[in-house]
Amino acid sequence: MQVVKSISELRNLIQDAKKGDHSVGFVPTMGALHEGHLSLVKESKKNCDLTVVSIFVNPTQFAPTEDLDKYPRNIELDTEMLTSVGVDILFFPSKEEIYPPGASTFVNVEKITEAFEGAIRPTHFRGVATVVSALFNIVQPDRAFFGQKDLQQVAVIKQMVRDLHFPIEIEVVETTRESDGLAMSSRNRYLSHEERAESLILSKTLFQVRDHLLAGLPLAEAKLRGIKFFGSLKKKAVLEYLDIVDPETFQFAESFKPSEELGVVIAARIGATRLIDNILVKAK
Ligand code: PAF
Repeated sequence: MQVVKSISELRNLIQDAKKGDHSVGFVPTMGALHEGHLSLVKESKKNCDLTVVSIFVNPTQFAPTEDLDKYPRNIELDTEMLTSVGVDILFFPSKEEIYPPGASTFVNVEKITEAFEGAIRPTHFRGVATVVSALFNIVQPDRAFFGQKDLQQVAVIKQMVRDLHFPIEIEVVETTRESDGLAMSSRNRYLSHEERAESLILSKTLFQVRDHLLAGLPLAEAKLRGIKFFGSLKKKAVLEYLDIVDPETFQFAESFKPSEELGVVIAARIGATRLIDNILVKAK
């Protein structure tokens, strides 16, 4: 695996690959890698000739009150993991490489970003859309791979790609879960032993709501039962939202018609750690 820190070096490597008619797959990450990230890499390797992974803890997607400095970083371990799954290029730029001094351009995707994560973290998606569009311009991949775990982020990026005409296929890879159901996340490592046990409340609640929807309960009733279920399990956990949405627009879903797919989304705080999760439910 080649580790590249500069944009110009990366561009040369990519140009060479494209001259040889090789397709380029891209997996953007913030490091602190886990099996979920590796599943994105595996998907890229299955579908593309060259796989590029970036590790960049993007400051513009963290609010001043959030965990930018605390965000877990372990480049040695990440490099080992990426080597073990056969990544071709690791792009590991500095902050100054991505945001040159005086950088003042932002990409703002409206509407989809108004509710849920966007309401709780008002500058988050502006930072995500800005860095992902910068990375897309640098890497110029044919396909980019994102985890379903961040379902609203996926919707924002798809919208941005459509609106700004990026010639890139966005591939969404199913959430990787621990054997007990917890969605893998870099933030799980913040959880104490007791909080780790309580974190199952998120996936259990989602599975309950899914079962109610599949059993034909009206959407409002399925959501209400989910909220009651969460309340019946909780010790420390605080529910921020539990909702049923159209996964493409992130507007509240109003009905569940045959062959339609809905997203059930949840966010909760367990002690000082904020976790999000979702599942997609398809009507029979
Ligand atoms: O999902 C993430 O890890 C980040 O939001 C991303 C897409 C790498 C942008 O910084």
